[in-house]
This record gives sequence, structure tokens and C-alpha cells, in this order.
Amino acid sequence: AYFAQAAGPLAGKKAIVTSGPTHEPIDPVRYIANRSSGKQGHAIARALAALGAEVTLVSGPTREPDPAGVKTVPIESARDMLAACEAALPADIVVCAAAVADWRVASAADQKMKKEAGALPPLQLTENPDILKTLSQKTDGRPALVIGFAAETEKVVEHATAKRARKGCDWILANDVSPATGTFGGDSNTIHLVTESGTEDWPAMTKTEVGKRLAARIAEHFQTGHS
Ligand code: CTP
Ligand code: CA
Repeated sequence: AYFAQAAGPLAGKKAIVTSGPTHEPIDPVRYIANRSSGKQGHAIARALAALGAEVTLVSGPTREPDPAGVKTVPIESARDMLAACEAALPADIVVCAAAVADWRVASAADQKMKKEAGALPPLQLTENPDILKTLSQKTDGRPALVIGFAAETEKVVEHATAKRARKGCDWILANDVSPATGTFGGDSNTIHLVTESGTEDWPAMTKTEVGKRLAARIAEHFQTGHS
């Protein structure tokens, strides 16, 4: 029902997009989160759908409206996000734009933690699953084009190139998230697209424009077979 009118250069292609932050529980009323707004991931989902792709948007809690013509799956934790992405497979295209929490509390409390005289609660952390890496390194049914972001505050392209190799994804959109750029929560983004064949520097543009340019670049990839 979501995809009845699909037409355009990505018609017949299935895409999974992750967006927003994750919330990692400490106890039933507290969580660890980050400042991701979900603006970029949601813009990518809208732009892919506008080119005819069947888009599943797996998103942490954001203030963004659910995009029209897209199947939105709301999740909270990184583990939930991975499970929702796996459930949405098979797919041709994956774009991981979520700011997934790198760590979660190793054993979240079942009941609200109480203040006790003199004792501070120790928060033991453990590493979350890496959704981009897991989908990139699938040996069976790997999506044809897996794309990640590299949020960096220094040596942006250098770190992104290393991150692309480490994750095993096809493209990395490197962006500078140092506080002075206002990228986190802001409306614009300056992207360096790192592919197998090199780096493309995009001018600063709005997150909506980044979504459209990425969707067009993906359509070109499938039409020409170029990286
Ligand atoms: N990512 C993911 N799952 C995680 C962590 C990251 O899917 N548990 C994805 C993000 O959505 C993004 C890419 O991996 O597309 C890179 O995220 P980033 O935080 O920049 O990379 P990390 O590998 O977590 O490295 P670090 O935070 O140490 O720079
Ligand atoms: Ca990280």
C-alpha cells in the first residue's frame, strides 16, 4: 500500500534508511542519548522515495514527521534498530544515517534506581552492535549499495577513508560535525563523498539538498554501473 505509485529512476529498488539517535536504557525512566535530530536521514528517505524507491525508514526518537510514501519503523535502542533493519531485508540500498549510540549500559536496571546514602551508581558500559558494519559484511544477501556517514571533528576525509575500509561499506559521506559548523541539529551539511574511486567534495548545502543529491547519485550508480 505504501508504494503503490512508485515511478522514477529508482522504481523497483528497495531501500533501508536509518535515522535519528538511539536511546539506550539505564533503568525504566532514564536513558543515554545524543543530539542527532534525524533531519539528514529523514531527508534521504524522502528523496529516495521521490525517485521511486520503496523505502523503509528505521528511526530513533526525533521531532521529524514520518515522511509520506515511506514505511517508518520507530525504534529506541541500537539493538532494536539492527533487528528492524534485518527484518526489512532484502534490500538493494542501505543508507545508515543514524547516530547510533556506540555504547549501552551493560545491564539496565529493571526498576527505577534509587538514591542511596553515599553510594553513586556505577554505569558499566558495553559496545552496541554496528548496524552499518553488520549489513556491509553480510555474506548472504548483502545489499548492492551500502552507504554510511562518518561524523568527524578533525581530519575528516582521512578518518572517513579509514572508516569506509573498516566497515566494508561502499560509500561514506564524510561530514564535519565540529561544534562550530552547527551540523548537529542544524539545517546544513558539508559532505565529502568517499567511494572506491576517490573523493567528491560537495559544496555546503541544506540537508534536504544533500538528500536529493545523494538519491540522484544513487540512481546514476544503478544506471551507469559506475561507483
Ligand atoms: N553506525 C552504525 N551502528 C553503530 C555505529 C555506527 O550503523 N553502532 C553507522 C552510522 O550510522 C554511520 C557510520 O556507522 O553511518 C559511522 O558512524 P560513526 O559514529 O562516525 O563511526 P564509529 O564506527 O562509531 O566510530 P567513532 O564514533 O569512534 O568515530
Ligand atoms: Ca560512533
